[in-house]
Amino acid sequence: MMKSNSEATVRLLVVHGPNLNLLGKREVDVYGDVTLRDIDRALSEEASKHEVEIRTFQSNHEGELIDTIHDAADWADGIVINPAAYTHTSVALRDAIASVGLPAIEVHLSNVHAREGFRQRSMIAPVCIGQIAGLGFRSYLLGMTGIVAHIRDARRRSEEG
Ligand code: DQA
Repeated sequence: MMKSNSEATVRLLVVHGPNLNLLGKREVDVYGDVTLRDIDRALSEEASKHEVEIRTFQSNHEGELIDTIHDAADWADGIVINPAAYTHTSVALRDAIASVGLPAIEVHLSNVHAREGFRQRSMIAPVCIGQIAGLGFRSYLLGMTGIVAHIRDARRRSEEG
């Protein structure tokens, strides 16, 4: 039987911002010992169970992150993004997300709201459907679950007309 559109594959871009390549070595007391590879693997495993395809991308360069978000407009249904330090500073990254018009969810390993004042402001959250913070690598998994549900709900609504 043909799959309805709401059940069809969901394609996601997963974006990791600056310094996240050092996870596992970096400030382990804050971010834990999980590596970026572990996170990407956990996401891929979960994705494969739910008819979801992911492409992951990490960069320490703002422009590369922006280019990758622009390119996603051609193939992705949504974005899971940990903008890392750019969360708190980057109008350009925020504009990129707003420009492509894909639904996005912001995730953080640490609870940014319980940390320094400058981490409590996000430039990115207002252009996202939501934010998940403080659950370590599970923030990514929950973010993926959330955005997939959001995309499938939207498909269902448009099927129902
Ligand atoms: C982070 C939180 C940011 O404030 C910080 O700059 C990071 C990681 C997190 O996942 O907890 O690099 O995004």
